Order: sequence, then structure tokens, then C-alpha cells
Amino acid sequence: MRRRSLQHDEQGRLRHLLTIEGLKRAQIVDILDTAESFISVGEQKVRKVPLLRGKTVVNLFFEASTRTLTTFELAAKRLSADVLKININTSATVKGESLLDMLHNLEAMQCDMFVVRHADSGAAHLIARHVAPHVSVINAGDGSHAHPTQALLDMLTIRRRKGEFAPLTVAIVGDIMHSRVARSQIHALTTLGVSELRVVAPKTLIPAAVESLGVHVCHDLDEGLRDADVVIMLRLQKERMQGALLPSEGEYFAHFGLTEERLAVAKPDAIVMHPGPINRGVEIASSVADGPQSVILEQVSNGIAVRMAVMSMTLGRPPADTAEVQAG
Ligand code: CP
Repeated sequence: MRRRSLQHDEQGRLRHLLTIEGLKRAQIVDILDTAESFISVGEQKVRKVPLLRGKTVVNLFFEASTRTLTTFELAAKRLSADVLKININTSATVKGESLLDMLHNLEAMQCDMFVVRHADSGAAHLIARHVAPHVSVINAGDGSHAHPTQALLDMLTIRRRKGEFAPLTVAIVGDIMHSRVARSQIHALTTLGVSELRVVAPKTLIPAAVESLGVHVCHDLDEGLRDADVVIMLRLQKERMQGALLPSEGEYFAHFGLTEERLAVAKPDAIVMHPGPINRGVEIASSVADGPQSVILEQVSNGIAVRMAVMSMTLGRPPADTAEVQAG
């Protein structure tokens, strides 16, 4: 008997997207292919398709966001869904209403999807365990655990620029310890089968036993960047750091900041990525962030197509009795 994960329905189709962990290569490729088909919607005169007409999507962001919140809203609107953004600071949670009571009230208004960002790891999983059977939950970033749609938009950006994953050497540089993006990227890149995946950071910013995820650890930036095809920079997540993990931002930039000179040891056609928000002069120099190898703003644009794909695949599933039974 097939073991069903929380994010799959009984037919093995994606019902929620909570984490990249547990997704098979074919399912990730399916999401990327679907996203690819939505890129053209953004280039049309009327940027809309009717796939989610009549569905209601609720953005529940308990933590700050620019890119994720906005691109989820645009994605839902381009799929013709109705979209609500709950302002957490003016919601009844400030009067003591619990998160689950709030959700059940929103369900009573016939909402179909919750897109959730929360500072606590596991928040989206908790919500997914309690929602009604017709409701889908998308994790838009939970604590330092996972940010699956960010990793998927990063994979789409890499695939559009580099083609196949198999020959690639990828370096993820920065605060690996506190980064939900890094965790999701590591699961995606290893599942898609890159040739070599390096994580590059000072010892204080590398989680214990990270090698067990299939990465090579480097504490020297030049070693980490050597002949890389893809360089992914991460910001220092100071809001999640407890105690002094670094001497100073200036010293961090001197050792791990990406400058044009440091980037020169990667392949000449290497692309530079960053999930944002970027901190110029802390992890990346402006000349690199705005330079010819940077694809940072392409990542943002690709986020709309990826989020359209994930929303249409989860919410747009045909009813169980008409669905083809798929291998899990
Ligand atoms: N990459 C990312 O999650 O950015 P936001 O925090 O602006 O959503």
C-alpha cells in the first residue's frame, strides 16, 4: 500500500506544498514544466487565464515579505482567483483569537487556499493538518525550515539559463544555518541530480551534519566558487541568530562577500543568484548584484509562473473520482 504524505492526496497528487523533501524528481520537473507554460501568460496583452475562476485564495503572512507575498497575489490574480490578504496586525488574533480558530472562520467563508508565511518552523504543516478536505495550504516560508516555492523558482531560473542539471556545480554561499531557502534548494538540487553541490560559509553558519544531505562543505570562498556554474548568495539572517556568530559585517564581507574579483574564480558564464532581500556590501557587492552575471530579478519574475503552477496543480486538481490514479 502506498504511504501517503501530508502534502499528497490519496491519488498521489499534490494537495498542499509544504516542503521539497519527499517530492520525487518527476514531480519537481512536472511543476517546472507547468511553470514554463505560464511564463507566456505574463507576456500576453491580457495577463489572465481562467483556471482558478471561482476559487478564493487567502494570503496569511505573519512575517514580512515583498517578493513572495506580491508574486503569490499576482499569480492568483493571473489565474482568475479571488485573493484576500489578511492584515495580521488588524485581525482578531490581536484580541486573542487562536490561529486555528481564525482558519476555521475563513473556511466558513468558503476559502479554498491558504498561503502561509510564519516565523515558526512547522506552522504550515500544523495548518495543513487542520484544514477542511477541499482546502490546500502552501508554505510561503516557515522559520528556518522550508521555502519550497522559492527553491522551485530558483530551479526554473537555473533550468532556463543552463538547461540540464546533471553537469552543474552549484555553490550556495552564506548563512546556511538559518536559511529555509538553502534547505529547500539543497533538497531540490540533490533530487534533480546536480554534479556537485557545495555550501560555503564560516563554521558558525553551517548546521551540524549538513553533509548527510549530499553537500560538500567549504569554509573558504575561493575553494567554494572554483569553476562553479551557479553561485547562490544568501543574506545573514540576523533576526534568527542567537549570540555573536560573526565578528562583524565588515569582516564577513572581507571573507565571504561576493565581489567581481572573487566571482572570477567561478566559470566565466556562471550565473549569480540571490533569493532577496539583498544586503549590498554585506554578502554581495553592488557591482555583482547589478552586473551582467546576475539573474536576481529574473528569479523574481519566474516566481510568478512557479506560483501559478503550484496553485493550479494543487487547487485545480480534478475531483478524486475522475482523477487518474498516479504512482506516488
Ligand atoms: N525571497 C523571499 O522570500 O523574499 P521575501 O521575504 O521578500 O518574500
